[in-house]
Amino acid sequence: MTKDLPLVGFTEKGGLFVGFSQYDIAPGSTGPVSVIIDKARTAELLSAFGKRAQQAAVAPSAPRLPFDPSASPTPTATSTVTTDPEPNAESTATESVTPSTRAAGAAVNCRRLKCVAITYDDGPSGYTDQLLKTLAAKKAKATFFMLGQQVATYPSVAKRVAQGGHEIGVHTWDHKSLPNLAPATMRSEISRTAAIIQQKTGVKPTLSRPPYGATNNTVRAQERAAGLAEILWSIDTLDWKDRNSRIVTQRVLSQTKRGSIVLMHDIHKTTVDAAPAIIDGLQKRGFTLVTVSELLGQTKPGVTYRQGR
Ligand code: NI
Repeated sequence: MTKDLPLVGFTEKGGLFVGFSQYDIAPGSTGPVSVIIDKARTAELLSAFGKRAQQAAVAPSAPRLPFDPSASPTPTATSTVTTDPEPNAESTATESVTPSTRAAGAAVNCRRLKCVAITYDDGPSGYTDQLLKTLAAKKAKATFFMLGQQVATYPSVAKRVAQGGHEIGVHTWDHKSLPNLAPATMRSEISRTAAIIQQKTGVKPTLSRPPYGATNNTVRAQERAAGLAEILWSIDTLDWKDRNSRIVTQRVLSQTKRGSIVLMHDIHKTTVDAAPAIIDGLQKRGFTLVTVSELLGQTKPGVTYRQGR
């Protein structure tokens, strides 16, 4: 079994960034956790090698970090916002159309094609850009159920997801299980997240996936009021449990059928590393990878969907 190491790097001001996956240091409901340690406080923590890496990061020609320091929650790195060049990966993603599956700009016809929807929850994260590159290279679309707090942390990544032609749905602000919440809290978990997705990507979400798939009539009523259809899944890869690229690939390829909605998480490096093999394998089997809304067609707010046809 492989296990993700924490993401470690430096901000452009020499602060030390440490990001942990959601399940590493806290219960999953806590969501992903990251900290930035001020440069002044890093001296006692760093080896000689670490100090050289820190110096390199502060240098003007420093390579970009694998995560998005412009979006970090502490003031140490917010000053990098204006110098953060937008990677151009998403500009090619918008052209990622396979003539055999869809004409540019045309809706994909899942009555005719063997469509499946792969979905990624709990992000965006420092791994999401890698996934976007894979999806663009293979002309595949996916759906991302995002946490509001992650969109707040990685707004430019969220925007690149939308620009790549992928769909974004609501996964609550901080991964709380909704059925046990007071109505006002439940409403805010959903509406705050929908609002920040629209604000940062320009696209108003129409889909919701409650954390853990935990739902009830009250949750569905809130989703209906927010104009969101409820999207669960038909294939659970358990990628968060195994953290093994080979196993997650094998699970997807052995279980996916026409109309499947596949649950994965783009906060795990092992899952993102598995994407090329998963997409190649599905396409080789004749599947067209589409967004959830392309798979389902018109959806109704407050109604639960687990798969398409
Ligand atoms: Ni989740």
